[in-house]
Amino acid sequence: RRLGTMRGMKQRLLVVANRLPVSAVRRGEDSWSLEISAGGLVSALLGVKDVDAKWIGWAGVNVSDEVGQRALVKALAEKRCIPVFLDEEIVHQYYNGYCNNILWPLFHYLGLPQEDRLATTRNFESQFNAYKRANQMFADVVNQHYQEGDVVWCHDYHLMFLPKCLKDHNSKMKVGWFLHTPFPSSEIYRTLPSRSELLRSVLAADLVGFHTYDYARHFVSACTRILGLEGTPEGVEDQGRLTRVAAFPIGIDSDRFKRALDLPAVKKHVQELTQRFAGRKVMLGVDRLDMIKGIPQKILAFEKFLEENANWRDKVVLLQIAVPTRTDVPEYQKLTSQVHEIVGRINGRFGTLTAVPIHHLDRSLDFHALCALYAVTDVALVTSLRDGMNLVSYEFVACQGLKKGVLILSEFAGAAQSLGAGALLVNPWNITEVANSIAHALNMPSEEREKRHRHNYAHVTTHTAQDWAETFVSELNDTIVEAQLRTRQ
Ligand code: G6P
Repeated sequence: RRLGTMRGMKQRLLVVANRLPVSAVRRGEDSWSLEISAGGLVSALLGVKDVDAKWIGWAGVNVSDEVGQRALVKALAEKRCIPVFLDEEIVHQYYNGYCNNILWPLFHYLGLPQEDRLATTRNFESQFNAYKRANQMFADVVNQHYQEGDVVWCHDYHLMFLPKCLKDHNSKMKVGWFLHTPFPSSEIYRTLPSRSELLRSVLAADLVGFHTYDYARHFVSACTRILGLEGTPEGVEDQGRLTRVAAFPIGIDSDRFKRALDLPAVKKHVQELTQRFAGRKVMLGVDRLDMIKGIPQKILAFEKFLEENANWRDKVVLLQIAVPTRTDVPEYQKLTSQVHEIVGRINGRFGTLTAVPIHHLDRSLDFHALCALYAVTDVALVTSLRDGMNLVSYEFVACQGLKKGVLILSEFAGAAQSLGAGALLVNPWNITEVANSIAHALNMPSEEREKRHRHNYAHVTTHTAQDWAETFVSELNDTIVEAQLRTRQ
């Protein structure tokens, strides 16, 4: 479905996300260097036809002086980005606190913070107030830039209060909200002290989207059980007004990966890695160093596999890329030490003078190095404890045209719903099951590998990020009409 154009003009889209798709580094009093971070969302929106998109979000840096702010606004404008300036205190309470310490773990079934309950309860109020203040700051910037006919697409758990702020200011604005994480069972969600206020705010949007049907269903159940509203097959109804709720599974720009594999630099990298790990099967994990990714559990499963399969010990290597993230939050600091401790123990136990079973890197790789790594991998391990979708699994599949390697995938990742028939699905909490799946993957006959790969490859290359974005935006355009019709009936 292609998006329509208005009077020959492209449809204008304001994308609002906590983080802008650029990383900004200050070079001088009034100079900034910017680098586009080509995540899924960026490539999805860059590829959307007939849309003139602008981004509104936080640049990830604290800029308190006016000269610096003005220079950043100017530099970002060239990248079609508009910054929201958040001071350190707000970032601490809204981003580190309410977003990353409360909503993120809760939405991934890790519950509300439990240590020092009293302190958490006291902090909760001020963090929620900061969250609402921050969302209002995003709304103010949207309002400054909004023109009639624009479509506003809000993203993720950071901005659940934004639809309400926007609609309170202008009820005619077309507002969509999309969640990139799971939406948990209403039994988990209802422990959140601010549960009703957040649901009501999200329902102010015209279209609410999730990666999977299950997340959409959980959201509708939360609205019926907590708010007493009526859930219909189309969404949630409140006094004649319908908020459309639906599943829109995201994808990747698979062509970008395919093209990268043909580049001489990537081919050279592939050759080097092949030589470096000759005679050994390569297993790969690529994750942000986050508790939801199940990195300790994955490494323990690999240890169990080595314990039980002595014949494989010098024939396999696990490369774990763990990208540091949210390093100001204590839970993440603890996780880093825990992972280092386990990796050190296993390498001490099974390493030799010339080789170690686990190569663990605490950093990100550039795009070309990552593509090469995906291409030389025999078995990818995506064993998140919970994950909204998980696009690493898609990226791996896109780069496996030649090798046709095996994907071991958590049944708790959204991707399990789309790649389930091709992958080996596991319960990441069951270390024995994951260890057995590693053995199964390494010993899998080539016909079975090819068949599984074909299934996944067909999905990844036909359900792209561009399709996802186009479908959501075009449905958002239609939805408002439907919603208005419904109210008039
Ligand atoms: C998840 C969230 C994104 C977030 C990303 C990186 O994928 O859904 O909204 O941007 O993690 O986390 P960070 O806190 O660094 O933005």
